[in-house]
Amino acid sequence: MKVLVLGGAGYIGSHICKALFLQSHQSVVVDNLSTGHRQAVRWSQFIEADILAGEQLKQILREEGPFDLIMHFCAKSLVGESVENPAIYYRNNVVGTLNVLDAMVATGHDKLVFSSTAAVFGLPEADKINEQHSRLPINPYGQSKKMIEDVLADYHHAYGIKSVALRYFNACGADPDAEIGESHEPETHLLPNILKAAFADNASGLKVFGADYPTADGTCIRDYIHVNDLASAHILAGEYLQTNDGAFAFNLGNGNGFSVLQVIEAAKKVIGRDIPFTVEAPRAGDPPVLVADAAHAKATLGWQPLYTDIESIIATAWRWHQNEMF
Ligand SMILES: NC(=O)c1ccc[n+]([C@@H]2O[C@H](COP(=O)([O-])OP(=O)(O)OC[C@H]3O[C@@H](n4cnc5c(N)ncnc54)[C@H](O)[C@@H]3O)[C@@H](O)[C@H]2O)c1
Repeated sequence: MKVLVLGGAGYIGSHICKALFLQSHQSVVVDNLSTGHRQAVRWSQFIEADILAGEQLKQILREEGPFDLIMHFCAKSLVGESVENPAIYYRNNVVGTLNVLDAMVATGHDKLVFSSTAAVFGLPEADKINEQHSRLPINPYGQSKKMIEDVLADYHHAYGIKSVALRYFNACGADPDAEIGESHEPETHLLPNILKAAFADNASGLKVFGADYPTADGTCIRDYIHVNDLASAHILAGEYLQTNDGAFAFNLGNGNGFSVLQVIEAAKKVIGRDIPFTVEAPRAGDPPVLVADAAHAKATLGWQPLYTDIESIIATAWRWHQNEMF
């Protein structure tokens, strides 16, 4: 396949580009480098551009295409920031994606894999969240992604755009060869913050938000999905769209929940050092447990996550953090 990867300089997009390359697919990355890294684009042609520039996007699709598939990772994705400043979330995530879809319609492209999120569901009504779970997001970030899921259904009906929305739970881990990995500023994700705290010179330490939740050890339980397992799901979803017509959605998690303290304990074992942390007040809107039911993706796409134990996920992230290059 020839794939256009929007947001391919970011954490998840760059890992997908490597996976595409290893499976002999060709990719072109478009990224404005707002949160991504030029050094992470190593297996693709790179074009610096913003999806908010709709006419330039059309030109790229015309000049560099045709593409068999478009993968769209561009987004602002900090929940707290989205509450403080929803305007940039609706503009970047909603208006930006409308530009992508309109450019696709204008240039005759009709297959899209879209990065959605568990945040479209809001507060969980079941132990494991499947695709039938109500979508009631509790912050503008989740709302912006839900809006696009709804737009995708309408664009399929009206313009024939075929799409797969992949709702990731907590993406984590790094390329097992440690060539690329997670590097966000600010970093709000648990695992990279644990690893940063593990470095002796990290004075700020690690913050655990809430230790009084109704879980076995009182801390929140989440579903950690390795970035390479996300990569394999994207390629399968892209292949699925070559022969299936619709606006589809799949939940992606490894199906095993780990508490914050379990992740810290596992990291201590992998790294072989103590990891200091302080317990802070719980954050508003953090549900006690968020775990995916990914049976639909497994049955329909033939997807199987390979990293199901937390220690092997942490080991890949730790290798990257030790010689982080960007
Ligand atoms: N990381 C997670 O745990 C997680 C979980 C669920 C969903 N997601 C979604 O997955 C996607 C990728 O997440 P990530 O963690 O790799 O984030 P990231 O910030 O590392 O990557 C996003 C990339 O998109 C680029 N970008 C953003 N706005 C752009 C614009 N207007 N024009 C061009 N490029 C733009 C950024 O520069 C960056 O390279 C996002 O859509 C995010 O909402 C991530």
